[in-house]
Amino acid sequence: MLHHSVQRVDVELGPRSYPILIADGLLRQAGRLAAEKIVPCQAAVVTSQPIARHYLDPLVASLRDAGFDPHPVLVPDGEAAKSFAALEPALSDMARAGLDRRSAVFALGGGAVGDAAGLLAALFMRGVPYAQIPTTLLAMVDSSVGGKTAVNLPQGKNLVGAFHQPALVIIDPSTLATLDDRELRASVAEIIKYGIISDAALFDQVATGRPSEWAAIIRRCCEIKARVVEQDEFERKDIRALLNFGHTIGHAVEAAGGYGGWLHGEAVALGMVAAARLSQRHANLSADEESRILAAIARHGLPVRWPELDEAKVWEIMRRDKKFRAGRMRFVLSDHIGHAFVSENPQEQDVRDAIAALRH
Ligand SMILES: NC(=O)c1ccc[n+]([C@@H]2O[C@H](COP(=O)([O-])OP(=O)(O)OC[C@H]3O[C@@H](n4cnc5c(N)ncnc54)[C@H](O)[C@@H]3O)[C@@H](O)[C@H]2O)c1
Ligand SMILES: [Zn+2]
Repeated sequence: MLHHSVQRVDVELGPRSYPILIADGLLRQAGRLAAEKIVPCQAAVVTSQPIARHYLDPLVASLRDAGFDPHPVLVPDGEAAKSFAALEPALSDMARAGLDRRSAVFALGGGAVGDAAGLLAALFMRGVPYAQIPTTLLAMVDSSVGGKTAVNLPQGKNLVGAFHQPALVIIDPSTLATLDDRELRASVAEIIKYGIISDAALFDQVATGRPSEWAAIIRRCCEIKARVVEQDEFERKDIRALLNFGHTIGHAVEAAGGYGGWLHGEAVALGMVAAARLSQRHANLSADEESRILAAIARHGLPVRWPELDEAKVWEIMRRDKKFRAGRMRFVLSDHIGHAFVSENPQEQDVRDAIAALRH
């Protein structure tokens, strides 16, 4: 029985459907909740040291109580988890622990652990079920939902992976309490993004203050992502692309910032400022809505300008982007807050102008 305050979003993908459960304190009920979707078994709990320190013990205890036999599998922290080098020892740990094709994986951590653990689950014995237990705001509103798993290559991020949907997603917003404040604020950029592309009320809620009720906001973001993924599970249409609002320029800004530069969400904030400018010029976004977008971003301490921006460098990185090589530029633009679409309207010079405008 779920407590009445548990929020639930269902991702409807036929035989791959799964629930997303959201409530403070859910980590301690993870075993019982998981047992409704995964037959209790030998299970790998994939996480990294800084996350394990806070949350591994309660998760392991909860899994044991529900009849699972949990084996912690530690991967390197952060982006270092997403490498081939990290996969092999983790897979060996799983084999040594006696996991087999009836086993399962629990991903405990941010998007990096989640992406790597999801790929481990896709690869081990040609695929075992897994649960996402996200502990960063970014992972709660974005990466834990949708079944994209990946590791990086020296040639680029997320170049190797698999679509492998989780069997369930368990979100305990109280775990955000230990998250670094800058990380938390950066992820608010993604929430603003969801508001711009599909929910004006969510946008207003985030634009006017610091969210105090995370569960409701996370739930709304998960709903939006779930509806997008349901319509375009394998990213073959233009629908999943809408989630990239602010990301085309944002990724280039992130890369141009280099090591110790922008966090992903901060770069996306700048990317959204540029996308809002393009939208105002080429998609009839009103000047008033453009400034409301900037105000919402600034309100959360996120950047709306980058005086040191090297526009030639950002442009060069964008041109090398795999999504751009295939010819025409495609941008996600918004004609009003709450709606976005893919456009081929902006020309090269328009995009370069929007990037340059980020300097002042
Ligand atoms: N699969 C997808 O659809 C998808 C979508 C968006 C992003 N991503 C991926 O997500 C990754 C980024 O994820 P992220 O932003 O969560 O970063 P992250 O996973 O690297 O975590 C950031 C840091 O926060 C720490 N941390 C995590 N939870 C914590 C907690 N509750 N308390 C204290 N510290 C905590 C981690 O140890 C880490 O050092 C990228 O690799 C990106 O490619 C994937
Ligand atoms: Zn993002």
